[in-house]
Amino acid sequence: MYRYDEIDQSLVQERSAQFAEQVVRRLKHQISEDEFKPLRLQNGLYLQRHAYMLRVAIPYGMLSSAQLRTLAKIAKYYDRGYGHFTTRQNIQFNWIDLEEAPLILEELAAVQMHAIQTSGNCIRNITSDPFAGVAADEYIDPRPICELLRQWSTLHPEFAFLPRKFKIAVNSAAEDRTVLLCHDVGIELKRGDQDVLLANIYAGGGMGRTPMLAELIKTDMPWQDLPAYLTALLRVYNRHGRRDNIYKARIKILVKALGVDDFAKQVEEEWTHTKITYAPWTDVDWQRVAQHFTKPPYKKLPALFQEQFIQALQPNERVGFMRWFERNVREHQVAGYSSVVLSLKPHRTQAPGDATAEQMNAIAELADRYSFGELRVTHEQNLVLADVESTQLVALWQEAKRLGLALSNIGLLTDIIACPGGDFCSLANAKSIPIAKAIQERFDHLDYLHDVGDVSINISGCINSCGHHHVGNIGILGVDKDGEEWFQVTLGGAQGHEAAIGKVIGRAFLADEIPAVIDRLIKTYVNERYDGERFIQTVWRLGLEPFKQAAYADDAKEKEGVV
Ligand code: HEM
Ligand code: SF4
Repeated sequence: MYRYDEIDQSLVQERSAQFAEQVVRRLKHQISEDEFKPLRLQNGLYLQRHAYMLRVAIPYGMLSSAQLRTLAKIAKYYDRGYGHFTTRQNIQFNWIDLEEAPLILEELAAVQMHAIQTSGNCIRNITSDPFAGVAADEYIDPRPICELLRQWSTLHPEFAFLPRKFKIAVNSAAEDRTVLLCHDVGIELKRGDQDVLLANIYAGGGMGRTPMLAELIKTDMPWQDLPAYLTALLRVYNRHGRRDNIYKARIKILVKALGVDDFAKQVEEEWTHTKITYAPWTDVDWQRVAQHFTKPPYKKLPALFQEQFIQALQPNERVGFMRWFERNVREHQVAGYSSVVLSLKPHRTQAPGDATAEQMNAIAELADRYSFGELRVTHEQNLVLADVESTQLVALWQEAKRLGLALSNIGLLTDIIACPGGDFCSLANAKSIPIAKAIQERFDHLDYLHDVGDVSINISGCINSCGHHHVGNIGILGVDKDGEEWFQVTLGGAQGHEAAIGKVIGRAFLADEIPAVIDRLIKTYVNERYDGERFIQTVWRLGLEPFKQAAYADDAKEKEGVV
């Protein structure tokens, strides 16, 4: 876990003190809301439907138990008892009083956290694989690179006012767990000959009203060149990005307009200059940060076999445990250890990604007891205990069950990604949380969910696509029709290496129609699937038509006068 040095620490403290003064001036009406807005946004404070919302960065998704306890304290004393983990490894608090915002930043600074650059047209939180450093399919631990990038991008004077926000993700495993291709820049790390660390660079991905997947613009670049190359890339964007039109200002539009080859060529050209002025990263830089990501004191343990779990379980617990083991437990690099995903998607009760202060405190306790005091946040809005001794899995499962965090639904139909939507967000066209809950209510039979297998449902309350609906196998988008809430359904989207953007299947639905529509889509899959075929594979094999027909089956009946 990275520990701040004096520079990091004084920076976050100075920022929080500076913001405290700005808030006082605002409260005394010495500055207007218009003048205050850019100041608060630089500290992650948005003005939303009912209150201020604070977005706190969790760099590359890593949290210590002490940090989580502070987040719990903030939820309890400054909010309404919970926080919302987002798709980009941030946490949002939805009910913040302006007067208290500086106190929160102070609390955060004390545990080496902040909200700097969590909004505004700058380089946002650097995200990465929640299983970094422990994943069995990892090429190299990406966290030192992420941390170097965090330091490089934080308060970078040249890139504080880009044409639009800028999101970077770093992946370094066989599976992509970062939605790399949906980022403005995706960095893919790998090992070259003689173990040298190389990077492939993807650019121009993003969601919103014009969803696009990033394209490969550079291969096999030595990691030392990253600051010079990214500087060149950002300069090209800064120079040519469409500042005149907010809808066309993201880098994806520039890459599309120029064509990927021309864009890559311009970056390459600029790089010939930045190469001279920008010192490459060195082994000294690497060592300075990498020392914080050394392996924890693992014990020498034998690998554990499933039969050994079974013996530790009561007969009536076996099915439940094995289901959880199958969906929520991941293979680890070190024998005798496992990684565990705690589900923040309980059926019916909380909004996807929400955790109460009590849960956060309890999870911090689990992290201390089972995972070297550390946690990770996933893109799907769940939490991970990365280093659990496999012999402890049964005990952990039992405790997590008591806390409502052990639902065995990771990757299944009810592991829904959802934005806060109309309940909180002032930009929303429709509510997302009640839709997520209604789907979870309809599909709360675990046997059925496990039989259906991998399906992602992503829900956004408006075209800004915070819920990443474009890349959900099933995407749900809130739209406004004459002041009424409707929901458009897309199909065929996917994330990871097979990333794809879903297509709208037809007319929008009313909220109460959605669970039945999902039911009909899933039934079509169950009827049509080949052995072992996932939902998305069946959709891609058959095309949209049979699913469309099923989704609008009621319309067809109506036409025939059946209902
Ligand atoms: C009330 C709170 C929120 C507000 C006001 C807000 C605002 C926005 C806006 C305006 C955009 C569109 C930006 C663009 O197209 O360039 C956007 C995109 C996005 N937001 Fe949010 N958002 C909020 C909450 C969230 C939450 C809770 C999540 C995670 C669940 C999230 C994650 C994202 C992501 C991943 C995108 C898409 C980025 C892309 O285009 O690549 N946001 N948000
Ligand atoms: S998708 Fe729209 S409704 Fe949902 S959080 Fe983003 S801006 Fe708000």
